[in-house]
Amino acid sequence: MTILVTGGAGFIGSNFVLDWLAQSDEPVINLDALTYAGNLENLAALDGDTRHTFIKGSIDDFDLVSRLLAEHQPRAVVNFAAESHVDRSIHGPEDFIQTNIVGTFRLLEAVRAYYGQLGNEAKNAFRFLHVSTDEVYGSLAKDDPAFTETHRYEPNSPYSASKAASDHLVRAYHHTYGLPVLTTNCSNNYGPYHFPEKLIPLVIHNALAGKPLPIYGDGQQIRDWLYVKDHCSAIRRVLEAGKLGEVYNVGGWNEKPNLDVVHTLCAILDELSPRADGHSYKAQITFVQDRPGHDRRYAIDASKLERELGWKPAETFETGIRKTVQWYLDNQAWVANVTSGAYKQWVGKQYGSCT
Ligand code: NAD
Ligand code: TYD
Repeated sequence: MTILVTGGAGFIGSNFVLDWLAQSDEPVINLDALTYAGNLENLAALDGDTRHTFIKGSIDDFDLVSRLLAEHQPRAVVNFAAESHVDRSIHGPEDFIQTNIVGTFRLLEAVRAYYGQLGNEAKNAFRFLHVSTDEVYGSLAKDDPAFTETHRYEPNSPYSASKAASDHLVRAYHHTYGLPVLTTNCSNNYGPYHFPEKLIPLVIHNALAGKPLPIYGDGQQIRDWLYVKDHCSAIRRVLEAGKLGEVYNVGGWNEKPNLDVVHTLCAILDELSPRADGHSYKAQITFVQDRPGHDRRYAIDASKLERELGWKPAETFETGIRKTVQWYLDNQAWVANVTSGAYKQWVGKQYGSCT
């Protein structure tokens, strides 16, 4: 048996592939376009491992995906491939429409044709798992209950709107064509191999580089944080036991205002890698202009996944964030490689003179 993973050179996808092959010998075909966010260095531990086959290519390439499905006959497709950064979607939404909407559509079309010609036994075993985000549900007020799976879709950014569209396509392919789909909507992830354009790795990187730690607006926006390996275990569990056509929210019950997250990162860095001048990294915190349309609060109610499939996260925020800081301290060469070249142009465009 084999699975096809898309976007497996990105942050969550590479953690998933590494975890998958650490727990089983079932081979992985990894299709990734290697955009700025894809990095084969994340998968260096699998060099020479015959269980992992990497293919550079896009999910919007129907012919390529069809060929891969025919050749490798996977029993599941796990779709991580996406443009994933809200700020980039504000500067340039087009790539988000192309990959997240058109790409998911073409992938579904190729999978539908493949599924249609499988024998009954293979059909019964087959799954298409679509990895999505809590951001499709929009923004919560301070005292609103956390998002359940039946919360209305109210996406507010080009990123979340494009992910919402992809979720609807996946749902439609189940209802219309009987494709055996599963969808997971997860809260903000953090952990190893997180590209330093997102809050947590950006703050660790800037702190160590002596640069400002940019806080959008008042820093009181709330995100619900999940350690990436807990997201991977949730996806494995849903793939194994999820009910066809169902949606599962994934989260770790860890709501934190952004400023608290940054204070926590500074405190851990003060302890593990103190500044030469003895001051706290907090001195580098800089309030900058807010993100347009910035969602105020996300919170995930993960009780369906816990109750029905018995999933629980292994890490608390406190244990996960410490592991994450330690990983960045231990992997400065990885950070140096991903922050050279095009990364500098992005930082200039987004933060201007602040950095
Ligand atoms: P990422 O940006 O780090 O990685 C995306 C990967 O997809 C990259 O390797 C990139 O090269 C690849 N890719 C982009 N376009 C492609 C295309 N057309 N064809 C094939 N590959 C392509 O993203 P991530 O943070 O790892 O997120 C993975 C998935 O999880 C996304 O679907 C995202 O919406 C979802 N998600 C992310 C978070 C989070 O906090 N990061 C939370 C919930 C859900
Ligand atoms: P981010 O990591 O981009 O994830 P998302 O927007 O998908 O939730 O941002 C997390 C939060 O941190 C979000 O409220 C925006 C905020 N943020 C900053 O305050 N400064 C930054 O430099 C970045 C990248 C994000």
